[in-house]
Amino acid sequence: TEYETIRVERRGRVAWITLDRPEALNALNTQLMHELVGLTTELDADDSVGAIVVTGSEKAFAAGADIKEMASQSTAQMREANHFGPWLEFARVRKPVIAVVSGYALGGGFELALMCDVILASETAKFGFPEIGLGVIPGIGGTQRIVRAIGYPKAAELVLTGRRIDAAEAERVGIVSRVVAADALLGEAEELATAIAEKSLPALVAAKVALDAALETGLEDGLAVEAERFTALFDTADQKEGMAAFNEKREPSFRHR
Ligand code: HXC
Repeated sequence: TEYETIRVERRGRVAWITLDRPEALNALNTQLMHELVGLTTELDADDSVGAIVVTGSEKAFAAGADIKEMASQSTAQMREANHFGPWLEFARVRKPVIAVVSGYALGGGFELALMCDVILASETAKFGFPEIGLGVIPGIGGTQRIVRAIGYPKAAELVLTGRRIDAAEAERVGIVSRVVAADALLGEAEELATAIAEKSLPALVAAKVALDAALETGLEDGLAVEAERFTALFDTADQKEGMAAFNEKREPSFRHR
């Protein structure tokens, strides 16, 4: 498939998706949303892919939804456009998704990063929800995911003021998994993504289901999901291989089934 707003590259079991609208700091217009979600869904169904990276440019991961596209829309038109459905699909991807953030991750760009499982940030990263200053609010999960990620008071401050925070503050409050020097970002990202992608795919998928359950359900239900997924892995070839490799003091060779 040909894409105009994103680029894709395979490196081993890692699929790298680069947002590519430099003229708009990777603003998430309708075309980009459909291309990104369509591609991610395809990669999710491809057993040769173990993890998906989403990244932007040095200057911007993504500066939000496309304001030029949205500015004149009415409520009825926004309903009709349904910007929410495709992003729900993105958030439902079964495989680990890693956001690699350099520069601006604002509004929808921040929300996209929050849909990912791991956020690796350059020290140049800047996060914020500027929507309130545009007369709107985050619309693709920002208010929900930021509260779950860092707790209500800090989340409320960010959403209500639109204040931008730097990478150090983002790391301190727990928004990002890790911050690295700008010139080390891509190398660290490759290492991290490869380390994840080479793990057993059934185990990765099970881990993500269990982690998601922690956000979606109460403790008892979440524990039941975890126990069931743990148990189900004992019929996989990779569980036999992983444990045999430990006992034989060698590295496992996973077949991802
Ligand atoms: C459309 C955008 C854009 C955006 C930047 N551009 N952000 N176009 N939508 N979100 C465009 C600019 O118009 C400009 O193009 C070019 O990208 C470069 O941007 P500059 O502003 O000239 O760059 P700079 O001065 O370095 O400032 C960078 C910036 C600023 C601080 C990131 O661009 C900015 O504040 N952008 C908007 C951020 C924002 O408010 N995001 C939230 C959007 S609402 P031209 O051609 O004009 O020179 C949202 C809701 C999500 O995300 C919910 C959806 C359902």
